Amino acid sequence: MGFWAQRVFPLTYDPLLWLGERRCMRALRAEAVGQAHGRVLEIGAGTGLNVRHYPPSVDELVLSEPDEAMALRLESRLARSGMQARVVRAATEELPFADGSFDSVVGTLVLCTVRDLERSLTEIRRVLAPRGQLLFVEHVCAQAGTRLKGWQDRLHDPWWRFAAGCHCNRQTLPAIQRAGFVVESARDERWRGVPSIVRPLIIGRATV
Ligand SMILES: C[S@@+](CC[C@H](N)C(=O)[O-])C[C@H]1O[C@@H](n2cnc3c(N)ncnc32)[C@H](O)[C@@H]1O
Repeated sequence: MGFWAQRVFPLTYDPLLWLGERRCMRALRAEAVGQAHGRVLEIGAGTGLNVRHYPPSVDELVLSEPDEAMALRLESRLARSGMQARVVRAATEELPFADGSFDSVVGTLVLCTVRDLERSLTEIRRVLAPRGQLLFVEHVCAQAGTRLKGWQDRLHDPWWRFAAGCHCNRQTLPAIQRAGFVVESARDERWRGVPSIVRPLIIGRATV
């Protein structure tokens, strides 16, 4: 990734998301993150927009983030929030945790960006304890045959460069199922206040 993705994108991330957060994402974060309990790992935590939503049922919070510029912003948001959490620089494809270390894994707007989706989901399953849960809010591929799907495919490459490696047309829910999770709930949503190619969202909960 070049200068834009490594330096500019982390700086502009919160302002770029401002409208989308206000219009809907903040409420979806609260809904997903509010179900976290026990020992919790958040993957690709970015600038820490979920931090404020963790409930008191969380015993331990680990925030993983591989990008140094994002991790620094995450640490400063964490310090301002007064939340107790540990920041770990790690990609989801190689999580530096023992098997069964967490009761909940939280991922928001991150499975679109991980380099290797299958491997990331295998790692998430590995670090979850028996009966552990994956809580997710992800933007996903539009329905096959729609004009929006056509635009997602056409604009995939420029979007990938602009959004620091984000794939706007990923089939994330089928991948979660293929990885062996049981999808307990999943609902379609629309992310208002952002470009239409990243508007189709899913919010849900899957267990191991
Ligand atoms: C679109 S941002 C989402 C940030 C945050 N989860 C949120 O909801 O605002 C994608 C994040 O995934 C991180 N990321 C990129 N590759 C990753 C990987 N292989 N594993 C984990 N996180 C990754 C990026 O550094 C970035 O912070």
